[in-house]
Amino acid sequence: MSSSSSSSSSSSCTLLIGLLFVVLLGGSLSHGQLSPTFYDSTCPKASNIVCGIIAEALKTDARIGGSLIRLHFHDCFVNGCDGSILLNNSATIESEKEALPNIISVRGFGVVDDIKTALETACPATVSCADILAIAAEESVSLAGGPSWNVSLGRRDSTTANRTAADTFLPGPTASLYTLKEMFSTMGLDTTDLVALSGAHTFGRAQCSTFIDRLYDFNSSGNPDPTLNTTYLSTLQGICPQDGDRTVVTNLDLTTPDVFDNKYFSNLQVLEGLLQSDQELFSTADENDAVAIVNNFTADQTAFFASFVVSMIKMGNISPLTGTAGEIRLNCGKVNDNSTESDGLLYSSM
Ligand code: HEM
Repeated sequence: MSSSSSSSSSSSCTLLIGLLFVVLLGGSLSHGQLSPTFYDSTCPKASNIVCGIIAEALKTDARIGGSLIRLHFHDCFVNGCDGSILLNNSATIESEKEALPNIISVRGFGVVDDIKTALETACPATVSCADILAIAAEESVSLAGGPSWNVSLGRRDSTTANRTAADTFLPGPTASLYTLKEMFSTMGLDTTDLVALSGAHTFGRAQCSTFIDRLYDFNSSGNPDPTLNTTYLSTLQGICPQDGDRTVVTNLDLTTPDVFDNKYFSNLQVLEGLLQSDQELFSTADENDAVAIVNNFTADQTAFFASFVVSMIKMGNISPLTGTAGEIRLNCGKVNDNSTESDGLLYSSM
């Protein structure tokens, strides 16, 4: 795996596959129209193009992979994986970017635009913005040393956004384990999915605003969160003074901040999860079936990677638009101008 990490970025994308997990999902899924081979004849280089642009962006922005996988998550949990999070405000769109869980926080839109521009040159009006997010999530994980997998493709893009749903269905950093389970269950995801997908916090950053209450006034107690390692607490208080700039960021995984590995889970065991929602997985006392999963993923990185792949595919299957629904957006930030039924673009990737 590490042997290929020094090769030139864009040409090494297909070679960077360290562990390819082939996941056979049962035939009972209702997402039959998504397929890993969807663009094989219409845009065979799609994944390579996405990977090359992310590899280039990583040279100047170490957290971009984390930002991109988070976009896919925040897309899928709001009206399904339909690219709706990418739409900007317009006469008809109340952008999801301004919902509380997203505002001043989701990022990576410039890289998504670069990917879209490159794909429009290579295969015009073919690859949806929703699929770009799904491919970018996988390539980001792979480029950071995590697993690779065959991404199911064929999603189409929404012509609407839903800011209210973004405010409702995206979990916040102070969510209890109970709430997290409820919110994931609403999306058809179980406790194993919750724990595995939370493992994406093995890379990327979070702002002081998302965990500062744990440092000084946990649950309005006037004291720090007791499930926070005291040495780690001091470090975090240094990074985030009580009256300091709350947009300052720190690593979600203090051990290996930019590597996709299982250190996130061993951090939880020593009370070094950054967000309350992270530490809850291990430290919630009553009836916590997540602990055994955390322990298993700590002991066995291969088991974590295998579960992560299964859960990412499940998340990517949330209510996609397929067939003739939606459109293939030409610009990910806005709905096509002429998206009427006579527009050939509507059917271009069927
Ligand atoms: C379990 C519930 C989850 C909660 C409560 C949560 C919450 C958060 C918060 C508050 C941040 C920091 C945002 C900021 O400060 O700007 C964050 C960052 C991040 N989240 Fe989550 N998240 C959850 C699940 C997930 C899932 C399922 C994924 C992906 C599969 C994910 C991937 C990420 C990544 C990679 C970052 C870093 C992004 C960056 O550096 O730009 N999270 N999350």
